[in-house]
Amino acid sequence: MLPTVSRAEGVYVYDTDGREYLDGCSGAINVNLGHTVPEITDRMHQQIDSVCFTYRTQFHSPALAGLTEHLARLAPGDLNQVQYCNSGSEAIETALRLATLYHATAYRPFQCVVLTEEPSYHGMTAGALAASGHPLRRKDLTPLLANQSTVARVRPRQGALRADAEDWEKAIAEVGPHNLSAVVIEPVGGAASGAVPTDPETLVRLRELADEHGFLLIADEVMSGLGRTGRWFGCDHAGVTPDVLVLGKGLSAGFMPIAAVVVSDRIAASFDAPLSGVLFGHTMAGAPLAVATAAAVLDYLERQSIPARAARAGERLAERLTGLTGQHRLITDVRGRGLQLALGVQSDPDRFPGTSLDLVEAARAEGLLLYPAGVTPLTESVMVAPPLTVSDEEMDELVQRLDRAITRTTQSPSGASSPLMTAHAR
Ligand SMILES: Cc1ncc(COP(=O)(O)O)c(C=O)c1O
Repeated sequence: MLPTVSRAEGVYVYDTDGREYLDGCSGAINVNLGHTVPEITDRMHQQIDSVCFTYRTQFHSPALAGLTEHLARLAPGDLNQVQYCNSGSEAIETALRLATLYHATAYRPFQCVVLTEEPSYHGMTAGALAASGHPLRRKDLTPLLANQSTVARVRPRQGALRADAEDWEKAIAEVGPHNLSAVVIEPVGGAASGAVPTDPETLVRLRELADEHGFLLIADEVMSGLGRTGRWFGCDHAGVTPDVLVLGKGLSAGFMPIAAVVVSDRIAASFDAPLSGVLFGHTMAGAPLAVATAAAVLDYLERQSIPARAARAGERLAERLTGLTGQHRLITDVRGRGLQLALGVQSDPDRFPGTSLDLVEAARAEGLLLYPAGVTPLTESVMVAPPLTVSDEEMDELVQRLDRAITRTTQSPSGASSPLMTAHAR
């Protein structure tokens, strides 16, 4: 049975039995500023007392225009147009719709294949799930995923965890670049690969190929965006500007559902109507309360120089985690950027009794929350991604609890079939 939550503060969550859990994975890697931040909740309260909802076709909102300006200032290049959504999945869905419409507008309806990587995860709605290189989550849903035939996949070579430039070039040639609508890529991997970054040369090459052949480069930064990787965006590590930047988790920081599709001026200008009229949207998209929350989140991120703090903290945490690999054979490696980190987990059941799910469970028993990752049997890992505001002392405490959890995992028989295990979404 799951524990019942009572309250949360900073990096800690407490259950109704008074047990304390150090949030080593920021909820679902979205509580980027920690739990209960008065600078943000005060502004939410002010908005609640003023107006929670107006519909975007009925009222102009200076707050929404301000949020768009702020995002445009932070995003690289000419990524200045924003369409709001309520979740990462919706935002990916919107980006796919945008790519299809972009080519249709230019009378290229055959240019409709979306190329994505396996492993990857882009969301649970039908289009986003079809695009996800995540066989476990797609399993048994094929009849619903009508657009399977317009999705192609690139796979890393044997032994590699992410596709490189050569793999992508080969996959693009196989699809036929003239058929390609968009490439969707996680610049820093999320839970599917277990935080494995795309190497910068691959992103640079994809940018060149997109320019050469006219397909769109969509960066899924739902997890990596807005400071998580130690830069504002995962793409910044390669100095690459995508055509479409998809943001989610970090924009809401866990306070209100909001996500965004940030589109280049060039792509937006190809339509003869504003993006909101072309793409349409969802009832609650861009509603005042969510907008006020995201505006408060962006102000906080900038005022507190959170990306730079995440870079420093990530370096320190990665070093401490690498120390654990020397002590425990269960842990194969440490990967990621900034505070989007993961431990590779040795999952051979003959040699080690533990798997990533066992480790997550053992960590919970030690008062530490971690996020299971990987697409078995492609990858097996556990994400370590505390709030970007985590202190040095809290990181030390995290590593101590993790150390004990790894020992506990290797010593106890596998509990992968316990009810708690099955509660974890993989
Ligand atoms: C990289 C990535 N894209 C998309 C999504 C989907 O976002 P949401 O769960 O908000 O729909 C996720 C969620 O984990 C994600 O990590």
